[in-house]
Amino acid sequence: MTIHTVNTTTFAGQRPGTSGLRKKVSEFQQPAYLENFVQSIFNTLGDCAGQTLVLGGDGRYFNRHAIQVILRMAAAHGFARVLVGQGGILSTPALSCVVRKRAASGGIVLSASHNPGGPDGDFGIKYNIANGGPAPEKITEAIYGQTQVLSEYRISDAGDLDLDTLGRARIEQMDVEVIDPVADYAALMTDLFDFAAIKALFAGGFTMRFDGMHAVSGPYAHAILEGLLGAPRGTVINGTPLEDFGGHHPDPNPVNAAELVALMSAPDAPDFGAASDGDADRNMIVGRGIAVTPSDSLAIIAANAAVAPGYRGGIKGIARSMPTSTAPDRVAHALKVPCYETPTGWKYFGNLMDAGMVTLCGEESYGTGSDHIREKDGLWAVLFWLNLLAASGKSVDTLVREHWARFGRNYYSRHDYEAVESSAAEGLMAHLREQLPALADQVIDGYTVDFADDFVYKDPVDGSIASKQGVRIVMTDGSRIVFRLSGTGTEGATIRLYLERYERDVAMHDIPAQEALAGLATIADRLAGLHQRTGRDRPTVTT
Ligand code: G1P
Ligand code: ZN
Repeated sequence: MTIHTVNTTTFAGQRPGTSGLRKKVSEFQQPAYLENFVQSIFNTLGDCAGQTLVLGGDGRYFNRHAIQVILRMAAAHGFARVLVGQGGILSTPALSCVVRKRAASGGIVLSASHNPGGPDGDFGIKYNIANGGPAPEKITEAIYGQTQVLSEYRISDAGDLDLDTLGRARIEQMDVEVIDPVADYAALMTDLFDFAAIKALFAGGFTMRFDGMHAVSGPYAHAILEGLLGAPRGTVINGTPLEDFGGHHPDPNPVNAAELVALMSAPDAPDFGAASDGDADRNMIVGRGIAVTPSDSLAIIAANAAVAPGYRGGIKGIARSMPTSTAPDRVAHALKVPCYETPTGWKYFGNLMDAGMVTLCGEESYGTGSDHIREKDGLWAVLFWLNLLAASGKSVDTLVREHWARFGRNYYSRHDYEAVESSAAEGLMAHLREQLPALADQVIDGYTVDFADDFVYKDPVDGSIASKQGVRIVMTDGSRIVFRLSGTGTEGATIRLYLERYERDVAMHDIPAQEALAGLATIADRLAGLHQRTGRDRPTVTT
């Protein structure tokens, strides 16, 4: 085995986005593209002698190849040890868990999350720091800086490692351990939730369908739901990870998981339905005839946190991304704990959790989690709901309705306009920004604008500032219109429009969401020139 120094030239555009570097597989397949980015991570980290790195991904196409390359490069960079998931598999939450439990210095997650996979799909790579969470912007920017100046990378010429057999091996001077991707994570879940109660629930005939969407949550769901919790076989469907996710879009929302939603509305619907995304950090919660919005799910989890053993002592606070509905804020207020509003992206929650300021975090994009790790966690949310269903003996529908009756309902929807020409999307945002100073106090179609701004976040822990995080137009009744551009898309630009309307009156809690939000959608279109600028007469995806 020999370590080689290979000359390389830089690639433009290797700037990590909302969640790591995501590009088309074909882009990653260019010679040295992956190597340059990995070397840039290592250059940013500096001397890694004595350190442990955790490595794994969601099993999508290119995962195995990338793992072999990164192992050879980690050996050349002088890591003492790499823990790699068997088969190259580690869900994003499991990787976060392993980094923390094994006191690693960091981890590399290979995933493009909910983006499609396969040779024509997307691939992604993300660096996580020692707390188990995504690297903060100062590190991702330093990595980007390296990608613009590096001129060589270092790699061992060792042969491929057997990723499928648990055990230890060596590459150069580096120890490699192929670990069970599920064990540490499953153990953590048994600490947090009342497994005995959930087991009794299933033993009593409770029925559930968990859709793994052919992504990485399958092995975890099989082991935990059907294994440890005794749910009947067949509870987990699409539970075998495939390199192309079976050609589907592994994004759990009512559009991509339409089959599950339809099943949950059928006369013989199971009691509970759930789904998770490509790398298992997102979740969708569905009851009989009701899909719970992620914002409501966070609020309901917060209001009922004490049912789960891991949260018996109460929660310290909540954080939600700015576009997420304000339903959790109402719960925080009632619990007399703080609620922080952060920019979109899980990396902004890390400091708050590390500082002990919040316990629960969530995003409207089907991401929910807590300070048990530093990533959002799909199965964690599902297990929380199971714990709540077991403890309360109520249905999902009853729990949601009782929550609305107590706190009011935050009607909520996100409209995505995908693959819009970048200049049109930038133009739309610029046009909105120009109007912001004049919007306050204007009365538009019966709504009075309270304030309008481009969201700026000052991290209360380290004082760092993130600006231009989305345009928000907030009405005096709490209704909101938010616009931002996606930071994870790989084709043109994706415009996200988020709509929210608060309704206190129980008698008004049964309006279909799009109907309840139609007035705000019209205002949003008019202010942004959405249809006119994009040429689209409807969103690509409405969730
Ligand atoms: C999207 C979601 C965001 C989430 C991210 C990574 O980012 O909107 O909440 O953190 O994926 O899962 P966006 O494409 O909007 O930048
Ligand atoms: Zn994901």
